[in-house]
Amino acid sequence: MITIVCAEGGSTIYALKNAIKELGQPCKILLLSEDNLLVDDNYKIDTDLIHSRCGIGDYMDRLTLYSWQVLKNLEEENYKFVNSLSTIYNSSDKFKTLKILNKNGIKVPKTALIRDYGDAIRFIEKYDIKYPLILKNSFSKCGMRVDKPLNNEELKEKTKNSMWESKLIQEYIDFKDQNTGLYKDMRVLVVDGQVVGGYRRISNDYITNLYKGGSIEELKINSDVEEIALKCSEVMKGDIMAVDLLPKNDEYNVVEVNTAPGTKGFRQLGINADEIIAKCLIDRMKR
Ligand SMILES: Nc1ncnc2c1ncn2[C@@H]1O[C@H](COP(=O)(O)OP(=O)(O)O)[C@@H](O)[C@H]1O
Ligand SMILES: [Mg+2]
Repeated sequence: MITIVCAEGGSTIYALKNAIKELGQPCKILLLSEDNLLVDDNYKIDTDLIHSRCGIGDYMDRLTLYSWQVLKNLEEENYKFVNSLSTIYNSSDKFKTLKILNKNGIKVPKTALIRDYGDAIRFIEKYDIKYPLILKNSFSKCGMRVDKPLNNEELKEKTKNSMWESKLIQEYIDFKDQNTGLYKDMRVLVVDGQVVGGYRRISNDYITNLYKGGSIEELKINSDVEEIALKCSEVMKGDIMAVDLLPKNDEYNVVEVNTAPGTKGFRQLGINADEIIAKCLIDRMKR
């Protein structure tokens, strides 16, 4: 039995469950928002492998640890997790992600974890960085907590609660496509050490998340991008991992990796990511 743990439902979860079932294995979904749930200190589930689609995250504008606590408690019962909980943590915490990638020679935007405006100014002066800058919450998702201050006044306003929001300040990568005036970044999916496919996310705005209305187009993955994506999944120890890159002048900055990528975009391009992920989970369950 494979259990998919998630905060809420969604098309990827049901598509994955179907793909696992079509391969002849039982699968159930543990919905952490469902009414009929009580996680006490005896809480166990009957399963051979847990695939978590949640971790630490911003939820309704607050940082929630509930899902993470449930997973960390299940860890005490020695279940198998794919991805591992340490990989999920390292990917949820964008600062830790960039630290690991940078240490392993992967190009990432210059970034600092800040407490307040003073830290932000120290960062700008140390690296001589010009506006615009990027501010984002370490554990946020879906492009919901990304900001682009244009001057000191905006920076001061937007860094007020930095320490309580696990705020990062980051170099802005100008990845606007000069021909079209559109922003196009890249998402590449790696499963089990193989590149499954990728797409460009396209948007009028620098925030390209599909959640915020970005659309997609097929990406022909060149050997540089393939190498970066494989290296990211290797150093992050991700069995299932999407890697997001911002392209600029034939260089690529990795901004984040995702251990629970949506598969809808791949489905639109005719890539059966659900089946590939399902096969990986079944393989790990049997090991
Ligand atoms: N350093 C940056 N320079 C330019 N754009 C950025 C930068 N970081 C993030 N973005 C834009 O904001 C989006 C969301 O940022 P990301 O770090 O992926 O957080 P989230 O978890 O909210 O998706 C990215 O997809 C990209 O479009
Ligand atoms: Mg993102």
